[in-house]
Amino acid sequence: MKNMRLLLGLILVFTFNTFAHSATEVLNLRTDYLQNPIGIDKSTPRFSWEIVATTRNVKQIAYQIKISTDKDGSNEVWNSGKVTSDNSVNNKYQGPALQPSTRYYLQVDVWTNDKRITSTETAFFETSLLNSGWDNAQWIKSSKINQDAMDESGIPMFRKTFEIEKQSIKSAKIYSSALGVYDLFINGKRVGTTSDDNKIVYDELMPGWTDYSKTVQYTTYDVTNMILQGSNVIGAQVASGWWRGPVCHGQYGNLDLSFIGKLVILYTDGSSKTVVTDNTWRTSSEGAVRMADIYMGESYDARKESAWKTFGYDDSSWLQTNVSNDFKGQLKAFVGPAVQVRPELTRQPVTITQYNGKKENGTTYGIINTIKMLKEPGSIHLKKDETVVYDMGQNMVGWVKFTAKSNAGTQMKIRFGEMLNDSGQSSKGNDGPAGSIYTANLRSAKATLKYTFKGAEEGETYQPSLTFFGFRYCEITATEDVQIVSLSGEVVGSANKEGSSFKTSNPLVNQLYSNIIWGQRSNFLSIPTDCPQRDERLGWTGDTQIFSRAASYNADVASFFHKWMGDMRDSQRKDGAFPDVAPIAWVGYGQGAWGDAGIIVPWNIYLMYNDIDLISENFESMEKHMDFLAAQAGNGFRFNGSGTNYGDWIAYEKTDNRYVSVCYYAYVARLMSKMSAALSVEAGDVYDMKQAKYSTLYEKIKDEYQKRYVHSDGSLKETSQTAYLLALKLGLFPNVKSKENGVAYLTKKIADNGDKLSTGFIGTGTLNQTLSENGAINTAYNLLLQRNNPSWLYSVDQGATTIWERWDSYTLEKGFGDVSMNSFNHYAYGAIGEWMFRYMAGIDTDETAPGFKHIHLQPMPDLRDQLPTGQERITLVEGKYHSYYGPIKSSWKMDKKGKIAYTIAIPANTTATLTLPLQKNTDSFFESGVRADKAQGVTLVRKEAKKVIYELKSGTYNFHVK
Ligand code: BGC
Repeated sequence: MKNMRLLLGLILVFTFNTFAHSATEVLNLRTDYLQNPIGIDKSTPRFSWEIVATTRNVKQIAYQIKISTDKDGSNEVWNSGKVTSDNSVNNKYQGPALQPSTRYYLQVDVWTNDKRITSTETAFFETSLLNSGWDNAQWIKSSKINQDAMDESGIPMFRKTFEIEKQSIKSAKIYSSALGVYDLFINGKRVGTTSDDNKIVYDELMPGWTDYSKTVQYTTYDVTNMILQGSNVIGAQVASGWWRGPVCHGQYGNLDLSFIGKLVILYTDGSSKTVVTDNTWRTSSEGAVRMADIYMGESYDARKESAWKTFGYDDSSWLQTNVSNDFKGQLKAFVGPAVQVRPELTRQPVTITQYNGKKENGTTYGIINTIKMLKEPGSIHLKKDETVVYDMGQNMVGWVKFTAKSNAGTQMKIRFGEMLNDSGQSSKGNDGPAGSIYTANLRSAKATLKYTFKGAEEGETYQPSLTFFGFRYCEITATEDVQIVSLSGEVVGSANKEGSSFKTSNPLVNQLYSNIIWGQRSNFLSIPTDCPQRDERLGWTGDTQIFSRAASYNADVASFFHKWMGDMRDSQRKDGAFPDVAPIAWVGYGQGAWGDAGIIVPWNIYLMYNDIDLISENFESMEKHMDFLAAQAGNGFRFNGSGTNYGDWIAYEKTDNRYVSVCYYAYVARLMSKMSAALSVEAGDVYDMKQAKYSTLYEKIKDEYQKRYVHSDGSLKETSQTAYLLALKLGLFPNVKSKENGVAYLTKKIADNGDKLSTGFIGTGTLNQTLSENGAINTAYNLLLQRNNPSWLYSVDQGATTIWERWDSYTLEKGFGDVSMNSFNHYAYGAIGEWMFRYMAGIDTDETAPGFKHIHLQPMPDLRDQLPTGQERITLVEGKYHSYYGPIKSSWKMDKKGKIAYTIAIPANTTATLTLPLQKNTDSFFESGVRADKAQGVTLVRKEAKKVIYELKSGTYNFHVK
C-alpha cells in the first residue's frame, strides 16, 4: 500500500511536471463531432481538435492528419501531408474510400506559431456497415397477436444459439436494430460499449426515434470480449417504444415489434463467421417484462425471470419467429450521442414522506396523514395500506432504481409526478390530498412502474429500461408489506457533452440557469421533445428552433441536431412544408415559426460549430420549404409565410398569428441568403446567385410587410411586445427613426406593464436578445430580475427546478394552471439562456468566422441607473462556453464602488473583438497592470461613445479601469 502511494505520488509529480513544461497541447480529437465514434457512415468524416496553450497569441499554422488501421500508425491509409492552414475544426478526410466495419486510428500533428509541433493522442473512429449490406439478415417478429399499450401479456423476446468452432477470435461486432425499442444480450450479459475506465456503458431506448416510414437506425457494438469458445446465445427484448405505442399516434400503422441483427466474427486466420436474424430464431413473450410503453410505463414480474439469455436454457416451448416485411425504409447507421443513463447526475431523495390515508383540512381532498418523514436517503418499511412519496429534489427524466424486499407475488406500484398537491383544494387544480403527487397534467399517460417480487431473501434490485418518466416525485404503494432499502433517480437522455457553466451574484438567476440546463437534459432524448411527462413528448419544431441556440451554449448538440435534421427531411411534406413535429406524428406541417425550424436550426448550428456540411446536406430541403412558402400567396398578399395555427403560442398578450408567419418568412428568407453566401465559393457561382435571390426575396417581404403592418408614422399596426420584437430583430422598420421609435415604444410598454413581459414562445425566444441588440440592456435586466408573474424568476420563487410550459403553470393565487396543457418541464422559455451567454457574459459568434474562430466578446454588465423596487443589481457574472476550439471564458465583477473588472480567456487558434462599456468616457482600461493598448496580445481598435473596442489574440486577460 505504501509503495502504491509512493508510485502514485511519483506519477502525479511526473504528470504535473510534464504539464508545467508543455505549454501547448492538442486535445479532444474528434471525428464528426464525437470522440472515438463507432459506426461512422460518411465517406468523408471530418476531424477537429483543440489546441491548449498557456501563453498568449498561439495559433495553428499547419497540420498533418495521419490515418492508419493499426494503433501504432503502421498500415497508413491516408496522410494529409503538412497542410498550411489554421483550420482545426471539421477538416475533411480525403484519402481512399474507407472500408466498412473497420477501425481507423488517427493522429494529428500541429505546428503552431510558437514553433511547436504537438501531436494528438491517437484516437480512432470505426466505420459502419457502409454499403456492405446485411448478409440476408431479416427483420423477425413474434407470431404473438398485437398488444395494446396497457396489455401485460409480455413483450417479445428473441433468441438464437450458435457455436464458435475456432480457437482465436480477432474481433466480433454486432449490428442491430428494432422496430420498437430494444435491449440486446450476449451470453447473459447486456451489450454495451466499454468506456475508457473499463466500465460498460449501455445505450438506452435504442434505436431512438426516427421517421420510421423512411429511416431506422442501427447500432454497432464491439462484442469481441463477450463471445465464448463453443456455445453462445444472442438475446433481444423489444418493446413498443416510438414504433407503435400511443406516442406515435398510429403514424406507422401499429405494426408488430421486430428485431434485426447481424453478428460478424473475424478469426485470426482471416476467416469469418456471420450470424444473422432469420426464422430459425426463437421467440417468446413469457419473460419478466410484461409491458413497456413510453407513455404508460413498465410492468415487471420478477417471478418470470429465467436464464433465457444464456446458452443452457431450454427454449423448446418458444415459438419460431416470423419474418417481417413491415419496414419499407432504409436502415442507417446511428448518428449522434446515444441515450444513456448519466451516472454523474444520479439523484438521491431529499425527502421521503410515508403516510397513511388522509386527514380532513376543510378542502376537497384533505391532507395526507404523515406517519414518518426522512430528510435523507433511508430504508422504509411500507405497509399494505400506506403510501410513500420520494422527493428527488429535482424535476428530471429517467427512472428510479431501487432495492427492496418482499414476499413473492407482492406488487409494488410506482407513480411519477412533477409536483405535489399544495392544498387539497380542487378549485386550485389539485387532484388529491395536499402532499400527495399531482398527476392530472400527465393527461392520459399512466406513467406507472409495476414490480412484482420474486421473494429473494437478499432483496431485489431493479430499474426499467424500455420507458422513461418525467418526475421529481415518485409515489409507492404495495399489495403487501415491503422493505424499500434504497431508491435513487437515474437521469436518462441523449448524452450531449456539457462543457459550459454560468454563474452570477444572484442565486435566483443561478437557479434559473440550472432550470434551463435541466430542461435540456430532460427533453433532449433521442429527439428534442416539448415535454417528457404527459401524453405528448413530441419533437415540436417551434420549441426546438427557439431553444436551439441556448441549447448549443449549454452542451455540444451539433451531432444531436444533425440527426434531428434527418428527421426533418424525412418528415417533410411533398409540397416542401417542414413538419410541426419531427419525426412527424399526430399533427401537421408548415406552421409559422414551427415548420420554419428546418431553416433556423441549421443556421444556428452553423454559427455555433461552423458546420457547413449541415447546411449543404439540408439545402435542397430548405429550398423546398421556401417553395412551399412562396406558394402561400393569397388574400391580396404575395408573402403570407407559413400557416397560422400557433402564432406567439400561449402569450399573455395577443399578436396576430398571420403577423408572426409573415415575420418568420422574412426571417428564413434572410437566413437562406446568408446560408447561400456561406456555401458560395466564388462570385457568380450558383450559391452566390441564390444569395442574391433570397436577399431580394427578403426585401420584397419587408416591402409588403411595411404596407401591411406599418402606419404612415412608422409605428406598427400590431401593438404587442412580440410584434415590436420581431420587427426589430428582423430589420423590418422602414427607417432608422421608426426603428428608434420602436425601441422607445417597446421599452416604455414593458415599463408601463410593471417591468413585465407579455410574450409567448415566439416573443420570449428573442426578448432580451433583441432588447440588448438595440441598446435596451437595462430593460433586459429589469425583465430578468422581475419576480412577479409573468417572469422567469416567478417560477424560481415557487421552487421550480426546470422551466415551465406556461408563465402561470402554477401561481400562488390560482394554484395549478390549465390542466389541458401544463408541463413543468418545457424548455422554450429557457431561450433566455442564450441571452445570458451572449450578452450578460457576452460570448458571441461572428457570422463571418463562425464556430468561434473569431469571437465577439461583448459583456454587458448590469449598469442600470435605477433599479425597479425590490430588485438587486447583478455584480458578478462568470460564463464559460466550451467551443470546438476549447473553453471561452468571460467574467466580470463589480466592486463596492461600482468599478468593474473583466477576466477573459479565449482559446488558442482563435481571436476576439472585445467591446467593453465605458462607465465614464474618461475611463481608461488596464490589462494586468499595463495600459490595455500596450498589453501583449491586445490592440486598440477604437473608442466610441460609452464603449471601447479591442482586438485580442488568444490567451487569458484581466481588464480593469484605473
Ligand atoms: C406543445 C408545445 C407546442 C405546441 C404547439 C403543445 O402541445 O407542448 O410546446 O409547441 O403544442 O402548438
